[in-house]
Amino acid sequence: MKYTFLLYPHQNVRYRQSLRQLAEQELLMTLRALGHACEVKPTEMGGAPALAFEAENLTERDMRMLSQMANVYVMFAHEAGGLAALERLHPDYIGEDLPALLKYKGKTNEMFTDTMLTMALVSSGFIDMHDSDLTVCDPMAGRGTTLMLALRRGYNGVGIEIGKADVKEACDYMTRYLEFHRIKHKKTESSLTVKGKAGGRETKFVFSDTPEHYKAGDTRSLRMILGDTRDMLALLKAKSVHLMVTDIPYGVQKGTAGKQDSIGGTLKAALPAWHDALKPGGVLAMSFNTYVTKREQLEQMCALAGFEIVETGNLEHWVEQAINRDVILARRG
Ligand SMILES: C[S@@+](CC[C@H](N)C(=O)[O-])C[C@H]1O[C@@H](n2cnc3c(N)ncnc32)[C@H](O)[C@@H]1O
Repeated sequence: MKYTFLLYPHQNVRYRQSLRQLAEQELLMTLRALGHACEVKPTEMGGAPALAFEAENLTERDMRMLSQMANVYVMFAHEAGGLAALERLHPDYIGEDLPALLKYKGKTNEMFTDTMLTMALVSSGFIDMHDSDLTVCDPMAGRGTTLMLALRRGYNGVGIEIGKADVKEACDYMTRYLEFHRIKHKKTESSLTVKGKAGGRETKFVFSDTPEHYKAGDTRSLRMILGDTRDMLALLKAKSVHLMVTDIPYGVQKGTAGKQDSIGGTLKAALPAWHDALKPGGVLAMSFNTYVTKREQLEQMCALAGFEIVETGNLEHWVEQAINRDVILARRG
């Protein structure tokens, strides 16, 4: 059967090219993980960007995963009478506006982060896991773009962020969002100890898509931790997260990687803890600015921490004058 998937356009014309390249890799990796060894070809539908492929009839399992792809707007199958739009089998758990509303300087493009989320999931051992059982961690969470995307899909999120203002902004936003939409939830705060001292603060939200589900205990959670990612194993349990998705500091804004420490230094100290916090079969997807961090060096650090590097196509792409971005995927064996 022939399929054509229409992609979301992006307002910025130059960045659109970058997203197209990532969309192709997202689809290719997803199809491969689902057992379809087909080619994916960039094409157009009425002038709009699309991707085409030929595969055996897509199953319900395939559709459930393909429906989660970040870049796909509408999926079409070529049938005798013409094109048939395929129904999405994975509706948003919470409003699609959750990751999109909050705008701030330094925010990562949410479609890009969502693409990394797909890539991490399809490279992991957890592609068939029920949404409510999946936990996504962003170990350098900023104001929580990755976590909001995970919640939108119906997974659980846990973030660690060293910037007090970022954590406050993310938690205030989540509170406003849940209250505004009258989503039944519970918010709790607790202090965490690191090496015997008060070392972190956790804000936890437990909520549900419907009041009935909330009552029945069918809930999702977001935990936002103010702390240093190098202390991850004091802040999170070992083998407790399925996927880790993060944008490491791009080096364009000063003071993000700790006072005396370089980005490389922070990562070298953090990666062994990130590895141990992942469950076996879990995957870390990490984006970086190639003008600041070298892929080879990062791959070496990941390998030293015990990760296996996942082979991918070319994920390096232009973002803006000061940022040329690339992505590394690394698996805990
Ligand atoms: C590129 S930003 C992430 C942006 C995020 N994806 C978003 O859209 O909001 C990297 C983040 O890493 C945080 N960070 C740097 N060093 C850290 C550390 N040692 N522990 C925790 N967070 C750290 C920075 O404060 C910054 O918010």
